[in-house]
Amino acid sequence: MNAPQAAEYLTLQEIVAAARAHLAPGPWAYLVGGAETETTVRRNRQALDALAFRPRVLRDVRRIDAGAACLGRRARLPVLLAPIGGLESFAEGGAAAAARGAAQFGVPQMLSSVCKPGLEATAAAADTQRFFQLYVRGDDAWVDDHVRRARAHGYAAFCLTVDVAVYGRRERDLAGRFVKPWRAGADAGRDFQAALSWDQVKRYKDRHDLPLILKGIATAEDAALAVEHGVEVVYVSNHGGRQLDHGLGSIAVLPEVVAAVAGRAQVWVDGGFMRGSDVVKAIALGAQAVGLGRLPCLGLAAAGTPGLVRALEILEEEVRTCLGLLGVTSLGELGAAHLAPAPAVGAPGALGAFPLLGE
Ligand SMILES: Cc1cc2nc3c(=O)[nH]c(=O)nc-3n(C[C@H](O)[C@H](O)[C@H](O)COP(=O)(O)O)c2cc1C
Repeated sequence: MNAPQAAEYLTLQEIVAAARAHLAPGPWAYLVGGAETETTVRRNRQALDALAFRPRVLRDVRRIDAGAACLGRRARLPVLLAPIGGLESFAEGGAAAAARGAAQFGVPQMLSSVCKPGLEATAAAADTQRFFQLYVRGDDAWVDDHVRRARAHGYAAFCLTVDVAVYGRRERDLAGRFVKPWRAGADAGRDFQAALSWDQVKRYKDRHDLPLILKGIATAEDAALAVEHGVEVVYVSNHGGRQLDHGLGSIAVLPEVVAAVAGRAQVWVDGGFMRGSDVVKAIALGAQAVGLGRLPCLGLAAAGTPGLVRALEILEEEVRTCLGLLGVTSLGELGAAHLAPAPAVGAPGALGAFPLLGE
């Protein structure tokens, strides 16, 4: 039997199942795995599942707008493709294939500095809103050079990932003896990332006017510091549970960060967001955008760029269904009153959102 065309996938579960069938064990473990006991991975899912909806009814939901502005440009959904190193291990074309999918569907892409085909070629691949994320592997001049190149190639913001002072112990990769080709020599210059402090944030803000995103904020205290330093986007993340083990689920951290930021910067969040209802929960708690990490990779692994687009289409369908059933017609109407704490019932873990897998 031929592999199905992307349009034939009717659910995200089917896309995840196809991705699992297509990927070799090494890249699959790299994609779904987390650090050590994978407690943070599981808490990401569990924290989302521990929020239930409080729907309102009788509110005329014939016309629903699921779009949002992301740093001044309209996106079809309040989501962005989170930065992923080594996208080329999931689909031919790597970040360029992802950029084409983001452009075709209409959401921003954040490019990782450890992803092929690199800053310039990815920008040339498609016209989408784009941000550049850097792992610092060199001195101040090296960073400045990346800012200059990002600006020159139309990246609308620059991102420093700050939850990687040291590299997490990903035990699935270690156990499988999986050597990531794109990480060959990646330890060179690693001390620059370990040495990062708020001084570099201040230096960036003094020197550059390209908006700055700090990705990997996980406390109100650091969110407040980020705002004091003039950061434009506070990006709540635990790296999909791949760095510090035994952290809180990302969405559990969101309320304290939103309160600390108090509207002085945008708040984005990622970690475990796999379903339309997950995205709606983050917006209801005050996030402006949700980063998708593993989900776009699964779409790419299932069927390349069309697979990514199809995953986003299904996600959009889920968001719109959720909004209609909550009795709202736009994201701006969502608020904390639409949510209530509830016991988590889903299976935790990176794929806990897909109960039919394996059946
Ligand atoms: C395979 C993979 C590679 C990643 N590479 C990067 C990276 O290069 N830079 C970065 O800031 N975050 C990276 N992340 C973290 C993601 O940007 C994002 O924070 C995380 O995946 C969100 O969780 P989710 O996968 O549950 O959506 C990576 C995540 C995965 C799964």
